[in-house]
Amino acid sequence: MHVAIIMDGNGRWASRRGLPRSAGHVEGAKTVCAVVAAAARAGIETLTLHAFSAANWARPPAEIDALMHLFRRFFVAETPRCVERSIRIDVIGRRDRLGKGLLSAIERSELLSAAGSRMHLRIVLDYSSRDSIVQAAARADRIATLAPEDFYRLLDEVNHCALSAAPVDLLIRTGGEKRLSDFMLWEVAYAELHFTDCLWPDFDEQRLQIALDDYANRQRRFGALTARTG
Ligand code: FPP
Repeated sequence: MHVAIIMDGNGRWASRRGLPRSAGHVEGAKTVCAVVAAAARAGIETLTLHAFSAANWARPPAEIDALMHLFRRFFVAETPRCVERSIRIDVIGRRDRLGKGLLSAIERSELLSAAGSRMHLRIVLDYSSRDSIVQAAARADRIATLAPEDFYRLLDEVNHCALSAAPVDLLIRTGGEKRLSDFMLWEVAYAELHFTDCLWPDFDEQRLQIALDDYANRQRRFGALTARTG
């Protein structure tokens, strides 16, 4: 099963407490660690977490710096834990605009965790689904006949995704908004959508289970008439 999460609401979580937005991101990073562990316990095979979109570069430089610092810290601190739990880490998105320190932390994480087979953790950084599709389409232009699976492969290539993932089965968005925000538009074609008002720093194992229970009660038909189990 492939679960993807748009982690929204860090800023509001902080503002409601009179704290700077970066404090919400710090708390959000703690939630990431807890949810990764919970997802592995729940038997999720692939977990894709949307951490930074290409559009997020428009945020104030101080907030971007705080986020980049958090990402780097996450890869350094969490890699040994992921290796211990057999979780493979991959980073999806553009790499040419990331700082050198973050980039080497990412490459180290990917290398050290590559043998992980219990769960595939995909952290999405500097990512735009529409840009990826446009780039993959440009590459596809050179191929005479193209199946959807081939297009997946091209998308993986443009997003530096070393290990292909199955299409998303369940997309969760926290923070109350009900939109996709240019996230995995191709990969969520038949995903079930679960929106929750819970702000990301408040998301936890119990709320993940609520989303999984919601998914288990959906009838997935993939356009046909009889339900197929997801
Ligand atoms: C959206 O909330 C969240 C982000 C742009 C950043 C996501 C980052 C984290 C969850 C923390 C670190 C992640 C990792 C992988 C270590 P927002 O700031 O837009 O919240 P708002 O809608 O309330 O303003």
